[in-house]
Amino acid sequence: MLLPREMDLRRPSTNADALGRYYTPSQVSQALIDTMRGIRPRLVLELGAGQGALASAAHRKWRSANYVTVDADLAAASTLSALTFNASHIHHAHDALDEELADRIGIALGSVDVGLCNPPYVRPRWRSSFGRILEEAGLSGALQSVHDAGADLLFIAQNLRLLRPRGKLGLILPDGLIAGQKYRGVRQVLLREHRVEHVVQLPRRTFAKTEAQTYLVVLSKRDGETQQVQLSQMSDMGEVSAPISIPADVAMLRLDYAFHTSSAPMGQQRDVGQVKKTLGAAAHDLLRGAISSSQISSSPVPVFHLGDFPRAHESAAIPTVPEKFIQPVSQAVVLQQSYKVAKAGDILIARIGRNLQEKVCFLPRGICVISDCIYAIRAAPEHRKTLLAYLLSEDGKAALKATSHGVGAKYLSRSDVLNIVLPD
Ligand SMILES: C[S@@+](CC[C@H](N)C(=O)[O-])C[C@H]1O[C@@H](n2cnc3c(N)ncnc32)[C@H](O)[C@@H]1O
Repeated sequence: MLLPREMDLRRPSTNADALGRYYTPSQVSQALIDTMRGIRPRLVLELGAGQGALASAAHRKWRSANYVTVDADLAAASTLSALTFNASHIHHAHDALDEELADRIGIALGSVDVGLCNPPYVRPRWRSSFGRILEEAGLSGALQSVHDAGADLLFIAQNLRLLRPRGKLGLILPDGLIAGQKYRGVRQVLLREHRVEHVVQLPRRTFAKTEAQTYLVVLSKRDGETQQVQLSQMSDMGEVSAPISIPADVAMLRLDYAFHTSSAPMGQQRDVGQVKKTLGAAAHDLLRGAISSSQISSSPVPVFHLGDFPRAHESAAIPTVPEKFIQPVSQAVVLQQSYKVAKAGDILIARIGRNLQEKVCFLPRGICVISDCIYAIRAAPEHRKTLLAYLLSEDGKAALKATSHGVGAKYLSRSDVLNIVLPD
């Protein structure tokens, strides 16, 4: 692979190659362009163009526009020849995160009608110019530290600098920016400063070799504050569902269709106008174990871990913690000095794992040492039964699954668990 000299990627993502390359399937590129309505662009830009999947789909809709593509991989140019042949197209082998990109590619800042981008899944080595790119795009205050910005946010910022007001940005984004707690500030800025029009949840495994949950996002730059966002999902067959509409203050929390429809009847949305009871309101503590998986084998006390949840067919109506992990209450004072322990009445759930929604069980008596992959939900006796029944139900499993994050193995943050909405 050929790389320009200035490319220096510190933390390549675990699944993509060093340039974070995943190419967009044509059905998905097409859906992104279909979702971008009400614009007839003269200038279309694709940063991180790879084989030009997005620009090529755009050219099928906007035949007379001029196309500019940029990719750091010198080999990308040769795969873009079809676009060059058919369209008014110029490609630049250049770092899209260059602060001087506009001058380098001969485009004025604020002049692009349509930006298209499926950013690489990498975290580039930090450069002070990134801070200025984020600042100019109005995104520097959106994260606790600008150093937390991954390539996705930097590519968004660079696109916003180049787009004209009311120009449209069509993005393919990972789960973090759409639903992660850490990126709430980013969502808030995007919703306040721009009009976020539509977010389409894509099927898992859309991108070869990864289970990452990804989304199409269309926004209109500086086109008034967002009032309502349309959310849809694409089926495995490539059909985009009819949208539901959510207000901007709810969109700031999360922008994923599955979450907003998870405890409502199929295809309908949650009644977000009403205050709903959350798991956090029903539980009075959420405890995470402290023993890591590598410490378990040397622990003198049995530690309840991910593989110890009873399987459905092994358990009675209520799956319970297996006997060998249950210690007498008389041991509590001693064990609590060295371990995090679940207590009788706690509901144990998996914090991480591919099928974490299937891992729920109850500690009926005694105490139990838990690993750092387990949460113990502690609820008042009057709430326990309903909470456990819900988490074991199909709806509860769907809620756990919808709220979890991550590529491959999923994880639940504390706030994910505490914000799970319970049925009325
Ligand atoms: C996820 S791929 C997307 C490719 C294409 N847009 C698509 O949707 O199929 C990201 C692309 O960004 C390119 N890339 C990575 N870092 C870059 C950078 N700093 N500047 C320009 N291109 C970069 C990679 O070479 C890769 O082609």
